[in-house]
Order: sequence, then structure tokens, then C-alpha cells
Amino acid sequence: MTDTFTAVPPFAVISGAHVQRVLQGQEKEIVELVEATYRLHGAGDSVNPPSYFLRFPDRPSARIIALPASIGGDVRVDGLKWISSFPENVAAGIPRASAVLILNDHDTGYPFACLESSIISATRTAASAALAADWLSRGRGRPRRIGFVGVGLIARYIHTFLAGTGWSFDEVGVHDVSAESAAGFRGYLEQSDTTGQVSVYGSAEGLIRSSDLVVFATVAAQPHISEVSWFGHNPVVLHVSLRDLAPEILLASTNVVDDVEHCLKANTSPHLVEQATGNRDFLLGTLDDVMADRVTVPADRPVIFSPFGLGVLDLAVGKYVYDKVAGSGELFVIEDFFYELRRYG
Ligand SMILES: NC(=O)c1ccc[n+]([C@@H]2O[C@H](COP(=O)([O-])OP(=O)(O)OC[C@H]3O[C@@H](n4cnc5c(N)ncnc54)[C@H](O)[C@@H]3O)[C@@H](O)[C@H]2O)c1
Repeated sequence: MTDTFTAVPPFAVISGAHVQRVLQGQEKEIVELVEATYRLHGAGDSVNPPSYFLRFPDRPSARIIALPASIGGDVRVDGLKWISSFPENVAAGIPRASAVLILNDHDTGYPFACLESSIISATRTAASAALAADWLSRGRGRPRRIGFVGVGLIARYIHTFLAGTGWSFDEVGVHDVSAESAAGFRGYLEQSDTTGQVSVYGSAEGLIRSSDLVVFATVAAQPHISEVSWFGHNPVVLHVSLRDLAPEILLASTNVVDDVEHCLKANTSPHLVEQATGNRDFLLGTLDDVMADRVTVPADRPVIFSPFGLGVLDLAVGKYVYDKVAGSGELFVIEDFFYELRRYG
């Protein structure tokens, strides 16, 4: 017997082209959605177990991460992001990361959608970075000089999200170990009508010293920056790639994370600090703590945001995309995907 609550939902597939059409130009709305999701997560209306890292002895630079999560509130959906990182792809001319997001129905558990998710992942990462830049710079003056260390897809999305939520800059600094990446990002900036002077730096030092908002979006596996004096002008640092900064930099700074348990894992820089000091005293709190005024960010030290990246954000953005596509009547449903539906045939 079925009723409206126990019917098997149709199963839909949403392509990257469709995801991108839905999300394009929605930067403000998505940053608000990410903010609401952090607040919901902070209030405990979510389940977000540790991400699972699948690694391969024969391909040590590669990994595939599973991010299962469940979110309450108005979103009310469960699911899983399954995201691969194969850094060698870039040299072969295809993106490093590829991903799908599965959404599961709250009432029946049935998966009801599979979405291309590299765009959703980059979008929620960039929205979270823009949100953090906003909250962490309150009280110290809006940064006017931004510097990017590592300029691949994520750096591009972060710039798009900052620009799309009202940021403009006098200077945009770029540093990448690959001259090709630096040139590609400069080309993107030029055609994106960015304000401000674009400068490519040959060293991270020059870039960091001349930026009051510094974004790390490299693929560094371990710290390559350890000079505390480079941060003597107290910049806001978005440490999105998580493993660039040596413990001494974090120990000389205010540290904000998205989720403490998540971030102190997998040899992130905050995890290295915990291992070195044996405690978590170096953490001020989460971004939700900052937004809820439970902690105050001092203006006289650098502040570093290290976001591990939460599955609940992927779910929130994925459900947003699903609802828009469903609302426009354009869902691509796979008929009979779930087929053996009668218990005894
Ligand atoms: N925290 C999160 O939620 C989150 C989410 C998504 C991606 N990420 C991370 O963001 C990072 C960037 O992702 P992407 O898709 O843009 O990767 P990408 O491969 O497209 O670009 C990375 C760039 O960093 C450059 N680079 C590598 N090492 C460097 C170094 N030491 N100094 C300067 N530049 C360096 C590379 O040349 C490349 O241009 C990855 O580490 C990824 O894991 C984090």
C-alpha cells in the first residue's frame, strides 16, 4: 500500500550544464544559504560525520572523499557527496576534481537525485570563503588588496563570489608555481571586468606582504609557508587549501574553522598545530561562533579561516539546485530507475 508519504520518489539526473545555469549570478542568495546552513549546523540541526578519504598506494597524489550528511530546517534532506581529486589531471588538460552529489528523500531514504557536483562543491566553497571574508574583516576595515596563492578553479570561484557579493579591490595579486595557471587566472580577471590593478608575483612573500586579504587555494600537501613576519600587517587569510601554513603561522594568529572536529583531521595545518601543542587553545572558534557573537575577532593579529568543507553545505546548495530545476518543470527523470517495488512481485 502506498500513500503520499511512502511513495517511491522519481529519480532525476541533473547535469553540470544545468547546475551552472541555475547557480550563475546567484552569489548573494547562495552566500545567505551557506550562512543559514552554518547556523543550522551550529545549532545542532544536522548530522555531519567525518569525511572518509579513499587513497591508493599506486596513485599517492590521488584521493576520493565521501561526505555523507543530513540537514534539517527547511532543507530537510540527507545525502552524500563523492568527490575525486586527481591533481595530475590538470597537466592532461582536464579539471583536478570531479564529483557527484546524491540526495536522499527524508521520509523513505530513497535517492531521488544525482547531480554533477564539482560546480556545487566549488560554489559552496567560494560562498563560504566570501562569507568568512565578510565576517572576519568586520572591525578591521574592508580589505582593498587581495592576493591569491594558487589560482585554479577554486580561486576563480572565490573571486567570482567576492565580486558577486559587492567586493571590489584596488589590487589583485596572483602567485602560482605554474606560470600557465597565473596567466590563465589573469586572463579570467581581465575578461571578468575586475576592478583594480592585477599583479603577478614571483614569490608568495611579496604577494602576502602586499595583501590585506590572502586566499590560499593550492594543492600543497604540506606547509610551504613558515615566515611569521610576512603576516605582520595582520591580514585576513582564507586558508581554503588547508595545508599551506606551518604551525608557527597559526600560533601567531587568530584561528577560525568551520567545524572543530572536522578540521583537526587529515594533517591540515590546524591538525598539525594540535599534534605539536597537544591542545586546541590556538582555536578561537567556528565561523558560526563569530556570526553569533559568541567570540570576538581581535583586529591586532592575523586571522586565519581554515574551512574543512562540510557535507551539509553541499546538501543545501544541491537541494537549492534541485528545487529550482523541479520548479521549472525541467527535471530529467530516469523512468523505472527503482523497479523491484512490490515485495512479492
Ligand atoms: N576547504 C574546502 O572546503 C575546499 C573545497 C574545495 C577545494 N578545496 C581545495 O582547494 C584547493 C584548490 O583546488 P582547485 O580545484 O582550484 O585546484 P587546481 O588544481 O585547479 O589549482 C590549484 C593551483 O595551485 C597551484 N599550486 C600548487 N602548489 C602551489 C604552491 N605551493 N604555491 C602556489 N601555487 C601552487 C597549482 O599550480 C594550481 O594552479 C585544493 O587543495 C582543494 O582540495 C578546499
